Amino acid sequence: MTDEVPLLEVVELQKHFPLARTLTEALRGHARLAIRAVDGVSFDVRPGETVGLIGESGSGKTTLGWLVARLHEPTSGAIRFDGRDIGHLQGRALRAWRRNVQIVFQDPVGSLDPRMRVWEIVSEPIRAQAPRTRRAELRERVRQLLPTVGLPPECLDQYPHEFSGGGRQRLSLARALSLQPRLVVLDEPTSALDVAVQAQILNRLVALQSEFGFAYLLITHNVSAVKYCADRVAVMYLGKLAEVGPVHAVLERPIHPYTKALLAALPVPDVRRRRARYRISGEIPTLIRPPPGCRFATRCPFVIDRCRTEEPLLRVVAGDPSHRVACHRAEEVADIRPETLIQVEPAADPPATPLPAAAAPAS
Ligand SMILES: Nc1ncnc2c1ncn2[C@@H]1O[C@H](COP(=O)(O)OP(=O)(O)OP(=O)(O)O)[C@@H](O)[C@H]1O
Ligand SMILES: [Mg+2]
Repeated sequence: MTDEVPLLEVVELQKHFPLARTLTEALRGHARLAIRAVDGVSFDVRPGETVGLIGESGSGKTTLGWLVARLHEPTSGAIRFDGRDIGHLQGRALRAWRRNVQIVFQDPVGSLDPRMRVWEIVSEPIRAQAPRTRRAELRERVRQLLPTVGLPPECLDQYPHEFSGGGRQRLSLARALSLQPRLVVLDEPTSALDVAVQAQILNRLVALQSEFGFAYLLITHNVSAVKYCADRVAVMYLGKLAEVGPVHAVLERPIHPYTKALLAALPVPDVRRRRARYRISGEIPTLIRPPPGCRFATRCPFVIDRCRTEEPLLRVVAGDPSHRVACHRAEEVADIRPETLIQVEPAADPPATPLPAAAAPAS
């Protein structure tokens, strides 16, 4: 399996969002600062597999998903699809390639135009590829597609507001699958849904994958979803990957202190297992001027001087070449269990102005 050409391969991918300079800064020749949302990420996705992408809010998961779908222009690095460099495709060539990768957007409500009917929404990618397709044919293709995502074919002329959260997510899914892509980026596909509906959507995703052979990049905060659906998982922290490997290895025996911290933050049924020995505290660095060494050094309970100066690279640690970790102390911390870590929130800033005194109760 590891010998085959990856479906998707990204190498040292970066996406920096430049910040506007003030006139004074420009005149003084100050360098233009940027938010380094994705800052040198390398990983791959094989045909038909699911790779989970987890990490705290703001770690760059959506930006990475958009880069992979070529909805963002990369700042630098390579994106290869089927071994072909697609990072620089433009115009007609880019449009033709787009049928290979589709995305289910993080915001299921905002990504569905409220003025469009179901058949128009779901056929959007088909119309983008073949604008002259006849309306009757589009409607027929959508009619056939709807049951595969669990929607009745009769809803062709309904509007998004007539659907529940789960129904809208199924619409997004139908739109993403309408061209039978090779890779689907699923950005938080279940976050807005209640638990029962989450399970239905995840089951449907797994069934569709085994029927059509799609590969998924599953971006989520839901570790259970990753455990259920994914073959491998990548853990992202402040624009970089901290750890990547098979799901069972990373989730059952996480090695990077950040992965341990992420898993320690999940609810554990037996509170006696949460005996704290290591504290996660400290400032979360800014993505504009990230620290020079390891980005987790400011919060890591195992930090040493080397972590503050030398950036750790992803490397094989536990003898399994598919499990790689970016930590200088990986061997020493490998056996420390996540449940021995506790999270301590950074102290909140004091309010800028004193709160008004409570009104005295009327006597
Ligand atoms: N278009 C943009 N312009 C400027 N900054 C952006 C843009 N998109 C994202 N960012 C910044 O990049 C960083 C990463 O954002 P991103 O949305 O990729 O994180 P995320 O991991 O998906 O977070 P969440 O879990 O909350 O969805 C954040 O600091 C965000 O503010
Ligand atoms: Mg996101």
